[in-house]
Amino acid sequence: MRTQVGIVGAGPAGLLLSHLLALRGIDSVVVEIRSRAYCEARQRAGLLEDGSVRLLREAGLADRLDREGLEHGGIYLQFSGERHHLDFRDLTDGRTVTVYAQTEVVKDLIARRLADGGALEFEVSNTAVSGLDTEAPVLSYTAADGSRQEITCDVIAGCDGFHGICRPAIPAALRTVWEREYPYAWLGILAEAPPATDELIYAHHPTGFALYTMRTMQVSKLYLQVDHDARADDWPEHRIWAALQERFALPGWAVKEGPALDIAITPMRSFVSAPMRYGRLFLAGDASHIVPPTGAKGLNLAIADVSVLADALTGLLLRRDERLIDAYSSTCLARVWRATHFSWWMTTMLHRTPGADPMEAALQLSQLRYVTTSRAAAVTLAENYSGYPPLH
Ligand code: FAD
Ligand code: PHB
Repeated sequence: MRTQVGIVGAGPAGLLLSHLLALRGIDSVVVEIRSRAYCEARQRAGLLEDGSVRLLREAGLADRLDREGLEHGGIYLQFSGERHHLDFRDLTDGRTVTVYAQTEVVKDLIARRLADGGALEFEVSNTAVSGLDTEAPVLSYTAADGSRQEITCDVIAGCDGFHGICRPAIPAALRTVWEREYPYAWLGILAEAPPATDELIYAHHPTGFALYTMRTMQVSKLYLQVDHDARADDWPEHRIWAALQERFALPGWAVKEGPALDIAITPMRSFVSAPMRYGRLFLAGDASHIVPPTGAKGLNLAIADVSVLADALTGLLLRRDERLIDAYSSTCLARVWRATHFSWWMTTMLHRTPGADPMEAALQLSQLRYVTTSRAAAVTLAENYSGYPPLH
């Protein structure tokens, strides 16, 4: 078998890349270890930057996003018993963000690739990549029917997430890794309850951070800072709701509770592996970098990477112009490092650091007061959150 671009992983990065390439007449094959149902149900991110929405719209993928997505013009920051609003439209040049779950982005992408006749193989195993330093790299895998397949490609895109096989296929001596583990985790609860807020609330509280977000006007998603080794068993539902009520407490206002649809604990990590290219292998999304979710950047970075990669591969495969693929890694890493810094900054400003001394706690509060009282500081948060640098 032959294709132009072999894509490992049917997450947002791999699926969107395959669609963007198809729009330019470039063919690809996407292989995925999980089932379609699993990929469509995996609970993850929920917020799209302004530029991500525009990119999806320009790629003809936004019919449902435009109907069902919830456009938000800002966020609330809560600390010391007060809730402050940051108005992004006012603080940036009118930029907004949109609540539209990653599950829905993935469903839309899979449906579109299949409707367009795209090659998308689920439930493969033993994926391997070879010949990366040649002009004909090979993607091999065992298909769902048990047959072993080999696809000769012009290029392989490693869109296989943090635990994938593509990043480790780059010789270790050629990679540099930067990593930070945070001493806490997030417990996320998806609940059948209408959100009691019009926009997201990021709350800093002496007992820990909490985030109030949503999926629809009927379904809320809430997150709690928990110990880094916490287990779901430690957090029966009544304990989760009690902690949420405490951390978001305001006189005359309460979190709306409802039956849990999903509860999961996510570790918090910053991770960057560079470069994002080795020969004819290009990494995109979580395969190359991870951010803690406090800045809502993971999904948006994956979208930004493949937008740059689709242009670069168009240059290589349609015009034999290597300038954009040569610039791919550094172009993406500039945005990746901005998002890495912003996510680290939001995370350390908003969480309770276990074992922190009173000095650190006072510095956090001072920073929070600054972003809610200085326009310059609020602009910094707003432009990074809504998507800096802009995708277009
Ligand atoms: P992924 O979505 O991880 O997709 C990679 C795909 O590759 C997967 O489908 C995987 O099954 C497949 N794959 C892996 N190995 C192989 C292989 N060997 N062969 C074939 N296929 C393979 N971001 C936020 O902004 N907010 C959040 O609240 C948030 N929550 C998260 C919660 C969790 C548990 C996780 C893991 C991530 C979360 N993120 C969040 C991050 C965000 O979801 C990711 O940044 C985003 O999914 C990145 O997309 P991707 O396509 O690069 O990777
Ligand atoms: C989400 O809706 O899941 C979400 C939103 C904002 C974040 C993290 C997660 O910072």
